[in-house]
Amino acid sequence: MKVEIVLTRDGDQQVVSYDYQRREPKERPMVLDVLLQAQATTIPDLAFRYGCRARNCGVCTIDINGKPRIACRARAREGDRLEPVSTLPVLGDLVVRRDGVARQLRGRLPVAAQGNDLNVEAPQAYHELTACIECYACLTGCPMHARNGENADPGAGYEFGNPFSLLKLQRARLDPLGSSQSREQALKSAVELGLSSCVDCPGCKCGVGIDLKNLVVSELLTAAGDRLPEPSDLSEETA
Ligand code: SF4
Ligand code: SF4
Ligand code: FES
Repeated sequence: MKVEIVLTRDGDQQVVSYDYQRREPKERPMVLDVLLQAQATTIPDLAFRYGCRARNCGVCTIDINGKPRIACRARAREGDRLEPVSTLPVLGDLVVRRDGVARQLRGRLPVAAQGNDLNVEAPQAYHELTACIECYACLTGCPMHARNGENADPGAGYEFGNPFSLLKLQRARLDPLGSSQSREQALKSAVELGLSSCVDCPGCKCGVGIDLKNLVVSELLTAAGDRLPEPSDLSEETA
């Protein structure tokens, strides 16, 4: 089974073809299996990330045929094109720089409350948001993240948010151990990160099926109400 792998070396892209050798005739390998075999055989310096190999850590996410997929859970198909996710800067081959998202939340997430949230009643939505594996697949197609532009400096933390950032903030708002101040801080951060981009957006897609539209975006938009800038303010901001 042949796939194409897009490699980035010294800023240049090259496409290499790799012919996966099935370990048994009926094997239906995951894309991560293909990458591991390619690295073990003909492309020893192939760079890609993986961790849990069980859809728990999210770091193996790459674009497969132009869409973000979790490589350890995506079946490889003949002719697949494997490349780094298009929404983050490429460090090399399939490895992207993820720190800009984490850095943007520095100082914006309320300090964790004291205690153990397993011992208190929490809304169902709080638990559902815990299913996020931080794969960043939801950045694809997000107009708010796109406002950062290609030249944004991840080291400084992205100025504008994304579905993942909003999820973290909404989860902080639902934290049963949180305070009214921490909930207020989380909402304020969501507005500052560009929540207004969500007003006319059809919604976000989560790689593991979390209902971002209803559990996160709608809740934040409703809570923010008239704190959101007018559309005219927004166009000045992005001009
Ligand atoms: S609804 Fe908001 S967070 Fe979701 S994709 Fe649109 S702009 Fe991004
Ligand atoms: S919200 Fe979904 S798509 Fe976004 S980082 Fe979390 S698990 Fe991935
Ligand atoms: S390696 Fe952890 S989700 Fe794929």
